[in-house]
Amino acid sequence: MNAEESKKEQMVLSWNTMADFYDRTLAENSLQASVMLFAAVRARDAKSICEVGVGPGLSSMIFISAYMQNGAQYYNSDFSEKMIEIFAKKYAQSEFANSSEVKYENLPQSSNIEVSTPEEGTVKKVYSTVADNEALPYSDDAFDCYLANLSLMLVNDPNKMLSEAYRVTQKGGTLGFTVIGNPEKQVMWTVIFDAFKEIGVKTDEKNKPPTHLGDKEVLKEKLEVAGLTVKKLFYTTSNFFMNVEEAFAFSIMTHLFKNLYEALSEEKATKLKEIFTRIWHERFGDDSLTPTSAEFLVAIAEK
Ligand SMILES: C[S@@+](CC[C@H](N)C(=O)[O-])C[C@H]1O[C@@H](n2cnc3c(N)ncnc32)[C@H](O)[C@@H]1O
Repeated sequence: MNAEESKKEQMVLSWNTMADFYDRTLAENSLQASVMLFAAVRARDAKSICEVGVGPGLSSMIFISAYMQNGAQYYNSDFSEKMIEIFAKKYAQSEFANSSEVKYENLPQSSNIEVSTPEEGTVKKVYSTVADNEALPYSDDAFDCYLANLSLMLVNDPNKMLSEAYRVTQKGGTLGFTVIGNPEKQVMWTVIFDAFKEIGVKTDEKNKPPTHLGDKEVLKEKLEVAGLTVKKLFYTTSNFFMNVEEAFAFSIMTHLFKNLYEALSEEKATKLKEIFTRIWHERFGDDSLTPTSAEFLVAIAEK
């Protein structure tokens, strides 16, 4: 296994570990961006939709139920098999499981998945699979719509992911991406940073959220280099309605702070949580009218 493969394996492991927590706590918080993205790419008008880095697929359930047109097909994927397992389970427990109007198949992981040609009809077809955004298993020009909510800034090589997005989308198709925006607008991360500072532990670049694509010019250029025409480019605020326990658990669970947290003595770890709790209550607790938030950059493009 080369260095890149081993890094990828670590990343998959980290998302697998976080998947249940993400499903319980974060998925509904990422919906603000996700539902907007489905609207912005006009997924309701699309016949063949590809969503990558889908996570546990809460937004997929809303799309299938509320906006997906009859006769359309929707392929979603994630490189974390645990995320796709959660989606499959969610689907099996949903109202669609026994519906004749939606047909679902969880496709085995493969390097070559034949995307069907959408047919006129009343049935909505839904497929999920485990796939890496940087090497999609689908044929060229298979989709008229492609979405990636909060995934592009996480991959090893965003250029590779974008060239795959370009490859699987038909000429004239619409693509939508959201990424983490400007560093100074990532309000939700300030509490853990300030708590580490108060216990005297230094943080560095490795602990910062991935904002490297959060500048409009940087993202626009990457999309253009991949061959896409940018149609809309804008910032949006997303709020997070977590309680303090969830916010702390999330902060120390991500790869940003996991190692730093695990290296703390028991005493320092307890102190960190106390300080985190105090700051969180001051800024976002019962006496504050402000929920925590992050800023995302949204790009809508055309092939
Ligand atoms: C922040 S979550 C967003 C999930 C979902 N789109 C949402 O809005 O809730 C990022 C997702 O991207 C997935 N991911 C990260 N890198 C990936 C890659 N290279 N290929 C496929 N999925 C990836 C993770 O497993 C995770 O489910």
